[in-house]
Amino acid sequence: MIASTKKLVILMVVICIGCDQKMDEANNQETEKLFLNPESEIALTTGDAERGRKLYFQCRACHSLKQNEPHKIGPNLFGVFNSKAAKSDGFIYSTALTNSNLIWDVNNLDRWLEKPYELIPGNKMIFSGMKNKNDRSDLLAYLYKETTE
Ligand code: HEC
Repeated sequence: MIASTKKLVILMVVICIGCDQKMDEANNQETEKLFLNPESEIALTTGDAERGRKLYFQCRACHSLKQNEPHKIGPNLFGVFNSKAAKSDGFIYSTALTNSNLIWDVNNLDRWLEKPYELIPGNKMIFSGMKNKNDRSDLLAYLYKETTE
């Protein structure tokens, strides 16, 4: 049942790309919960968290996700969705990220993952970016699942 709902959502996304209004009306519960900013372009998609788990291999050397896990090269990401940037206790951030005043809604996270150096020039995350939008969407679905429960 859930699987078929997902398929339906994906189908609707394919049909509806470029017509946010209609997708809004469809108002899938899961999508709404996952994507906190309804204005976000990627609110149109429901990422595949299982696929995202594999994409997270690109982040794993530098980030832990669960509550109270130690920081690595990068900060622990527990609770990152909709929080202010550079707020993980005990991690020393770059001045650029600290002063960014950014809220990590899904839209900003998506932009960050695509081109971190463009969203916040001078940040110290050494990551060239994830070009593929579906990859980012799947990764965000996984991150949301892992960092909010
Ligand atoms: C080589 C290590 C490295 C890799 C790989 C890496 N990061 Fe980071 N990440 C960092 C560092 C360091 C920071 C802190 C940046 C700063 O202070 O400017 C950071 C910051 C972040 C933040 C902001 C956290 C906050 O508390 O504001 C997010 C979100 C994030 N990374 C997600 C990811 C994701 C998702 C991936 C995988 C696609 C990834 N990172 C890959 C090192 C890394």
